[in-house]
Amino acid sequence: MKITWFGHSAFLLEGSKKVLVDPFITGNDNAPVKPDDIDCDLIAVTHGHGDHLGDAIFISKRQNVPIVAIYEVAEYINSKGASAVGMNFSGTYEHEGVKLTMVPALHSSGITESGFRHSGGLPAGFIIRMDNKTVYHAGDTGLFSDMKLIGELYEPDVALLPVGGLFTMDTELATIAARWLKPKVVIPMHYNTWPPITADPESMRPELDKEGIELVILKPGESYEL
Ligand code: NI
Ligand code: MN
Repeated sequence: MKITWFGHSAFLLEGSKKVLVDPFITGNDNAPVKPDDIDCDLIAVTHGHGDHLGDAIFISKRQNVPIVAIYEVAEYINSKGASAVGMNFSGTYEHEGVKLTMVPALHSSGITESGFRHSGGLPAGFIIRMDNKTVYHAGDTGLFSDMKLIGELYEPDVALLPVGGLFTMDTELATIAARWLKPKVVIPMHYNTWPPITADPESMRPELDKEGIELVILKPGESYEL
């Protein structure tokens, strides 16, 4: 599986299928692609905030591919004429050999683009399983101890963790999350998009080294081969 970071929390996972997560491209100065250039089979959206729902509706319509999101966000997406599959925590949605399981995140989820007139239900993360590989996309989240359970249940190969602080965990708390999740690899996200979420994830390396967890710091546009 090839994991490409488009900056912020946007990733493209390419294996037998292409799964796009949280495609915030328009308005993200770090994004190395245009919404028009992205090719995918399925889109996962963790919550209703604009920096996660992003260009999902546009890409879904253009590519004629479904969006998977929590029920309330899915209903909003459907009302905008794109096609969404609503699900909820512990549920698994299977699409052409890709399994998406929804897990909790400690955050909020109002739908930015509707001026928060839609609640957006609750924020989520995803366990994404494809080609016998497991990736945990944590969405926007604070630290919560059920990450231990997520690690135990799903044994992620890779954890994509927010580290920018202010709206999510910072690098210190994401290091604790990594210790609990026990993935083989951590890829930091949700930092350096804007000044309030400036972070240097390199600071996580000594502690992760001790745990035998590889820290992979990508630049927007770079990929990690799993
Ligand atoms: Ni958010
Ligand atoms: Mn965010």
